[in-house]
Amino acid sequence: GSFLQDVAGSRRMLFGAAVSAAHLRDAALCEAILRETGSLTAELEMKWSHVERHEGQFEFQDADAVANFAHAHQKRLHGHALLWHRSIPDWAMKAGRLQDDWDSIERFVAAMARRYSGVESWDVINEPIGPAEQPDGLRQSAFLHAFGPDYIRRALVSARRHAPRAVLCINEYGIEYNTPEHERKRRGLVQLLAELRRDGIPLDCVGVQAHLDLSQHHHFDPAVFARFLDELGAMGLQVRISELDVKEKDSDGSVAERDRAVAEATRSFLSVALQNRAVGSITCWGLSDRYSWLDVPAGNRGLPFDTDMRRKPMHSAILDALSQR
Ligand code: G3I
Repeated sequence: GSFLQDVAGSRRMLFGAAVSAAHLRDAALCEAILRETGSLTAELEMKWSHVERHEGQFEFQDADAVANFAHAHQKRLHGHALLWHRSIPDWAMKAGRLQDDWDSIERFVAAMARRYSGVESWDVINEPIGPAEQPDGLRQSAFLHAFGPDYIRRALVSARRHAPRAVLCINEYGIEYNTPEHERKRRGLVQLLAELRRDGIPLDCVGVQAHLDLSQHHHFDPAVFARFLDELGAMGLQVRISELDVKEKDSDGSVAERDRAVAEATRSFLSVALQNRAVGSITCWGLSDRYSWLDVPAGNRGLPFDTDMRRKPMHSAILDALSQR
């Protein structure tokens, strides 16, 4: 059978997966990664809380493990993630600690850009749009409280300064479905992007995480999602499908039925996403159900390979979508 990156590559696309340093000790997983992917993302290891657990002491071993593996096997490397409200180190979360101290952020961005100069694209800002009605639509994060809405511009400018050749991304979730909540986040994101474009702030790309969810997938509206991608493309932005996986509703039903439902959701989503030329890559948030952050009773089956490292219908769904490009 065909491998995902081979088909992606023949369409000038990239197929990638998130991996964790610990998973790289699994030979069967590594074999699948080497065959199927063209690009890797560290699932945890490049986050600020992971790299700088103690102020001023950078611990790069885990991130190095992922970066070295990618380099050794000629895989491209996507950097995830510089500023994320959920990966601020404890010391920086102390009350008022970040206030007026952009230096600690600048130092982290500079350290990552220097050490991982092979990173082709960085998630500079992860998940900036708030989950509920909030001013400007921006998330009320520690970054927003410490620096105001300008933290986004400052981070993008820092990233460009330290990683001048990297593709700079804003990565967001909960923007795929035709629900009021997703629509509100899409509008907030588009408004943010439009302002950044208007003011000439360095930004190249938007990551659409695409954590699909079978309990919500009936809200996937091809026309609405296609229009959203058109808006991003019209702003001159590249689009990455950055964290694709499928959360099951429950684990009722046979394995065959479950896998068919996961594959169908993947197929319907990707057939719309890949019609848009701005979409240049697909990254799954893991490759095998053996290692997935999604946890439902009896194990979630939302990735292209099962726990025995066998291809699932979701693999075919991705392959078919890529082939139609
Ligand atoms: O490895 C330790 C283990 O030693 C310890 O016993 C255990 C107890 O809590 O924790 C383990 O670490 C956990 C790690 O995942 C590995 O499983 C962390 O607590 C947990 O916080 C971490 O969660 C990750 C999360 O980001 C936070 O970093 C998920 O794996 C990872 O999939 C998730 O990824 C995010 C993206 O960065 C942004 N978009 C959403 C996506 C899913 O939430």
